[in-house]
Amino acid sequence: MQPRKLYVETMGCQMNVLDSELVIGQLTARSFALSDDVSDADVVLINTCSVRAHAEDKVLSHLGALRRRKQRNPDMIVGVIGCMAERDPGGLVAKMPHIDLICGPGELNKIPAMIDELDETRRRVIALSQSQSRRSTALQRATEYDSVEALDLSRSACIQDHPTQAYVRVQRGCDKFCTFCVVPFTRGPERSRPPEQIVNEARMLVDRGAVEITLLGQTVNSYIHQDSGRAVPFSELLSRLNDIDGLERLRFVTSYPGDFGDDILQAMRDLPKVCEYLHLPVQSGSDAVLGRMRRQYSVGEYVDLVKRAREFVPGITLATDFIVGFCGETDEEFADSLRLVERIRFKNVFVFKYSERPGTVASKRVTDDVPDDVKRQRNIALLRLQERISMEHNRTLIGETPEVLVEGYSKRAVKAQEAEQTRGDEIGHEESSQLVGRTRTDRIVVFPGDIRLTGRSIKVRIKAATALTLHGELVDEDGVARMPGRLSNRVQIGG
Ligand code: SAH
Ligand code: F3S
Repeated sequence: MQPRKLYVETMGCQMNVLDSELVIGQLTARSFALSDDVSDADVVLINTCSVRAHAEDKVLSHLGALRRRKQRNPDMIVGVIGCMAERDPGGLVAKMPHIDLICGPGELNKIPAMIDELDETRRRVIALSQSQSRRSTALQRATEYDSVEALDLSRSACIQDHPTQAYVRVQRGCDKFCTFCVVPFTRGPERSRPPEQIVNEARMLVDRGAVEITLLGQTVNSYIHQDSGRAVPFSELLSRLNDIDGLERLRFVTSYPGDFGDDILQAMRDLPKVCEYLHLPVQSGSDAVLGRMRRQYSVGEYVDLVKRAREFVPGITLATDFIVGFCGETDEEFADSLRLVERIRFKNVFVFKYSERPGTVASKRVTDDVPDDVKRQRNIALLRLQERISMEHNRTLIGETPEVLVEGYSKRAVKAQEAEQTRGDEIGHEESSQLVGRTRTDRIVVFPGDIRLTGRSIKVRIKAATALTLHGELVDEDGVARMPGRLSNRVQIGG
């Protein structure tokens, strides 16, 4: 029998990227083949994000296009999975009656069974969890969680490819309830996975070729697993993972500035595999705004944490998230965010215009009163300032030779090459290949080299810098620059 074709579209955060990977793994272990062409797919799944209205609008427009496709091919199964499915299943079906499958992020392990049921009954199937589990008893929650865990546990059976970088979930959900945020509603309460499961999964990935593992959690530093009276905190989890032979780099996202103990900073300092990088969303540089967001820390406490991080972990880089135009944000409060960016000198910042989300505390108690063009101007101002700082940072790195883990072809180079090829020019990858990799501090480095360096850690001398990217050349162990041109049949690994 021909395998059925599966097309999966993923929006949103790293957690969704991992969820899609696991769903694909489950289905390809059965009778599905992954397709990158929606037009010949038998099953289309959209893994959705609800964090901002814009992300939801994009899903609706995809679904609109799929409706027309389904009219031509009524047997095609259209599924909406992830946060949007959990947040508003009724609204989705009302707008898009052609949806066949709706599955929240806590129920993704059920998708194979749901597709079987659909094949049999041709009636819409729905699996949701989190909204109920907030009301359920601890015992019920524990059983529900066991079933959710099946998704991560299924990984050993079904991932066929061998990525050099992999995500591992350490925690689900979030208990912080920042007033703007929909995540606690879509992904449910915070639960930490047992450390043995995490370590086993990481070891299996390393055995299959992963050299870098990124641990995922909404507030990853608040990870704590209670096991027969003994608590395993995040720092201990890092230490256990650091012991995995063959693993080179360990990262984790996203950290919450409120629960960040010195034990984690010590672990970052002492464990050689843990990279010198923190994604530490601050959201605002104004205490009044942080209060309205219910972020549970002050600007002073954030600055103090950054200071301690820099003391413990020399050379550490920091990335952050800001929301601009949160309810009632004045010019002066926004200026506090600019001042904080100047003061901390982040490696990079992600800036989001506030988007009111139904069901959140902010949507019920405060008004989304900052006009969109003001949000847009603040967004631009913050990004411009950061661009200047990133540029200044990056220029200081010219002449250095950091260790770079090679990720593959640089996307920009691939795009340029595809454009060339559609114009009929023939360019061999060997001649033109621009590779991309990252330093331990999460800086992006582009340099010419052979694609077979992917997954290797090499030394690259930085020759030029933009705000977002460093450009360099490979160097031999003795520090001499190496021409990549004819490396194709004799890969030399440097550094
Ligand atoms: N702790 C989570 C946060 C998830 S949301 C994590 O894993 O990163 C990611 C970012 O989106 C937040 O840090 C915040 O800056 C932004 N965000 C969340 N809700 C938002 C909203 N309603 N409007 C605009 N930005 C939002
Ligand atoms: Fe959202 Fe705040 Fe949790 S931003 S994911 S509620 S820490």
